[in-house]
Amino acid sequence: LSSVSGLLKRGADALRAVKVAAPATDARRLLAHALGVEPARLAAMSTDEVAPERQSVFMDMIERRSAGVPVSHIVGYRDFWKLRFRVTPDVLDPRPETETLVELALGAPFSRVLDLGTGTGCIVISLLAEREDARGVGTDISPAAVLVAGENAARAGVADRLLLPVSDWFADVGGRYDLIVSNPPYIAAYEMDGLQVEVREHEPRAALTDEADGLSAYRSIAAGALDHLRPGGRLLVEIGATQGVAVVALFAAARLQEIEVHTDLEGRDRVVEARAAPG
Ligand SMILES: C[S@@+](CC[C@H](N)C(=O)[O-])C[C@H]1O[C@@H](n2cnc3c(N)ncnc32)[C@H](O)[C@@H]1O
Repeated sequence: LSSVSGLLKRGADALRAVKVAAPATDARRLLAHALGVEPARLAAMSTDEVAPERQSVFMDMIERRSAGVPVSHIVGYRDFWKLRFRVTPDVLDPRPETETLVELALGAPFSRVLDLGTGTGCIVISLLAEREDARGVGTDISPAAVLVAGENAARAGVADRLLLPVSDWFADVGGRYDLIVSNPPYIAAYEMDGLQVEVREHEPRAALTDEADGLSAYRSIAAGALDHLRPGGRLLVEIGATQGVAVVALFAAARLQEIEVHTDLEGRDRVVEARAAPG
């Protein structure tokens, strides 16, 4: 049981027993970290013996994961899109479904991008890394979050093209953008008790919920969008799977145009797109 494959099985079984959502994936991420290799390398190492001291590092991590600590907090990072992002308890752990928004954003040209509620900075930093002539602004109401985003921007080599002010949505944001993106807190207050422990107890509450009906952020974003978009500029927001109709209505009432709902890889409504009228 001291081979790579044996440890993966032991770790995944332990996580499965306490009903962790993705036991095999989590065990792979943790073992890769314990061995200092990329998760994709583990398959080729499956019969390798693991040194006893690495085994105990791994089993300690499995124990913390079993207690509800997110993998990203144990290893300190999350791979998102094409980059690695530092993750601390001050920021939301970037989710794979948010890559849907990144992909849609990259579907049209932009030179100035604004990311509202940037957290780790995973959205705007990924966009700037893909578009070397673009500049961006990423805001967050949390000063601790923009510090983490700043660290991630430096590591990705985009810090000279990204400003990271603290702002309550548009309150301290000037200028106009040809792309505005946001993955705001969209969980309603009454849904918070139903979340997994790792989310409810380990992620910043203000990153998850508006403490109301889950739509407050979309109201603020809709209200300020036309004053911050260039003519023909695009707005892309991530939504919860049941929020499409409500967010489309808010955007229509704010006189945004060409409003569309896009699904994620699981086929759930995930992103609402809209445009400012062309000039
Ligand atoms: C769901 S998290 C998204 C983080 C990151 N963009 C991502 O996709 O992983 C929402 C973010 O919005 C920020 N936020 C909450 N209320 C805000 C407000 N009033 N103004 C600006 N940002 C806010 C939170 O601090 C958090 O970082």
